[in-house]
Amino acid sequence: MSADPHVVTREQVLDALRSVEDPELHKSIVDLDMVRDIQVGDGRVSVNALLTISACPLRETIVNSIRERVRTIPGVREVDVTLGEMAPNERQALIAKLRGGEVSTTRRSSFITPESPVRVLTIASGKGGVGKSTVTVNLAVALRQLGHRVGIIDADVYGFSIPRMLGVRGRPTMIDQMVVPLEKDGIRVMSIGFMLPDETDAVVWRGPMLHKALTTFINEVHWGDDMDYLLLDLPPGTGDVSITIAQTLPQTHMVIVTTPQAAAVSVAQRAARMAEKVNIEVLGIIENMSYYQAAPDQPPVYIFGRGGGQRLAEAQSVPLLGEIPLDPAVREGGDNGVPVILSAPESPAAKAFRATAERLVRRLPIPVA
Ligand SMILES: Nc1ncnc2c1ncn2[C@@H]1O[C@H](COP(=O)(O)OP(=O)(O)OP(=O)(O)O)[C@@H](O)[C@H]1O
Ligand SMILES: [Mg+2]
Repeated sequence: MSADPHVVTREQVLDALRSVEDPELHKSIVDLDMVRDIQVGDGRVSVNALLTISACPLRETIVNSIRERVRTIPGVREVDVTLGEMAPNERQALIAKLRGGEVSTTRRSSFITPESPVRVLTIASGKGGVGKSTVTVNLAVALRQLGHRVGIIDADVYGFSIPRMLGVRGRPTMIDQMVVPLEKDGIRVMSIGFMLPDETDAVVWRGPMLHKALTTFINEVHWGDDMDYLLLDLPPGTGDVSITIAQTLPQTHMVIVTTPQAAAVSVAQRAARMAEKVNIEVLGIIENMSYYQAAPDQPPVYIFGRGGGQRLAEAQSVPLLGEIPLDPAVREGGDNGVPVILSAPESPAAKAFRATAERLVRRLPIPVA
């Protein structure tokens, strides 16, 4: 038998492992100091990697990607992967690193900090039920389709609806105090809904706990250092919660959703005044449920009146970013967890959401690195 012409080195293995990412933290396992030991001998490679927590739901994924990458090295015949768990101090060091942005070559923190280039878009309204959450999920998908990295904070702790609307369920991984958001179609999502044993459980928390929960979301969620837009779905109304969040997040901008009728518009104006009070720039208005059109050759019916979004935009001297028609497919999309922009991409509603997202990006562009 001839000797193998390839002598595999530890450095080659380490290099190959650089392209293996932790599936939740979206970073190289080498940069995350997860590779503990590499043994090489006679075409056989053993890798010992440390997981952040032993119950890591994606252990199989990590093992498989390590195997796959190391096997591509010429001369490797067998790959053995063993997993261990980081000690508490190692986990703390990792979290500190992620906070300081040291892991990233661009030195950006994976958390939301005043230095983050992430754009926070608060989706607000005066009245409840005008479609904030619907607009949030559809805009998120549209922004993602435009190639942006998107996250959603469901700040409606009493009436959270983002998990259902986006069809995302499960429990976020907690690495000590750090929360790893769930992900669906490339959109990272945090909601109180993920923390409750049952989706139907009422959140009967008091003000201070609410405040704590929100600041936890904001301060302890590892969003990744590549986030472009973070959408914040507010609860109905213009109360304390909204102000709290607005003050906690840096670089916050607001979009106000309203329906066309006069009563809704005057309430929506309150949201605009709240934004002014806490120095948040209103980027524009989105009018939802603007009209209903049974078929393309039928005239639109203005069920909730007409022109309210435009009037509000003029009163605030901001653009009207979009007019979204009433469409049963929008509601069905929300109920089924597949936003209309995905379930019926050619529908007038989906087109309106895409056009709105494009206008938003023009209003609030992401700087080219
Ligand atoms: N353009 C639309 N066409 C048809 N149905 C819509 C449209 N927009 C929203 N809906 C439906 O209206 C209902 C209320 O929407 P949504 O939950 O998004 O409002 P909200 O402003 O977030 O409410 P809340 O203030 O309670 O948080 C949902 O059932 C949703 O599917
Ligand atoms: Mg809502």
